[in-house]
Amino acid sequence: MEGRAILRDVTLTARDKRIGIVGRNGSGKTTLARVMAGLIAPDEGRVEVCGVDVLKDRRGALGAVGILFQNPDHQIIFPTVEEEIAFGLTQMGRTKVEAAAATRAMLERFGKAHWASAATHSLSQGQKQLVCLMAVLVMEPALIVLDEPFSGLDIATRMQLMRCLDAVEASIALITHDPATVQGFDRVIWLEGGEVIGDGTPDQVLARFERQMQIWGGQDDLSDLTG
Ligand SMILES: Nc1ncnc2c1ncn2[C@@H]1O[C@H](COP(=O)(O)OP(=O)(O)OP(=O)(O)O)[C@@H](O)[C@H]1O
Ligand SMILES: [Mg+2]
Repeated sequence: MEGRAILRDVTLTARDKRIGIVGRNGSGKTTLARVMAGLIAPDEGRVEVCGVDVLKDRRGALGAVGILFQNPDHQIIFPTVEEEIAFGLTQMGRTKVEAAAATRAMLERFGKAHWASAATHSLSQGQKQLVCLMAVLVMEPALIVLDEPFSGLDIATRMQLMRCLDAVEASIALITHDPATVQGFDRVIWLEGGEVIGDGTPDQVLARFERQMQIWGGQDDLSDLTG
């Protein structure tokens, strides 16, 4: 796969507060999320969030964009929940005391104060996802990129999380396989084969997306899943 362009001609100027990103498995959604967060460099072009070049200014990027990975096991690095949540804040230059206070407040906001000294490895997948989300929210970035944040969550936690995200001031780019999740968003981007093939309001994009998914879903050929 080396040398193959994963994303092509993706130009986004995002002023919208709520952006949904949809597309098939392997269409490039996670790759786009990682580019937006400055974690991988595009071969051409650049990524600026709130005036911060997220590739060059890594410290500035921490306050500009936060990303919730698709798999929390790829995100969690600390043995305890409180360390995991506090880490980004200390990276941003906050003192240990400030970081600890903000961490406690964040845990309380989700009714999880009792998780503070829990071992991250002992948490369930959905609980880990919630810890990662808290670690992102506590940094109050201008843009939050969420890569399938609901996949491991039970219905109640998912509803709580949705409400919490509704209340978040930050702009949100949310990757999902569930069109209903982004129906109320300002804008939806549809990726296919690394290119943007739909970009507009949910009404403009989602109906077409769902129709196309039905057509693909009706076919028995799974060979394209191998990429
Ligand atoms: N580091 C990498 N090196 C080479 N190819 C990669 C790399 N990461 C992803 N790809 C390929 O790029 C394509 C897009 O992958 P990506 O993870 O962005 O898809 P996705 O839309 O997030 O899919 P899913 O819905 O399954 O999460 C896939 O074909 C994948 O195999
Ligand atoms: Mg993905």
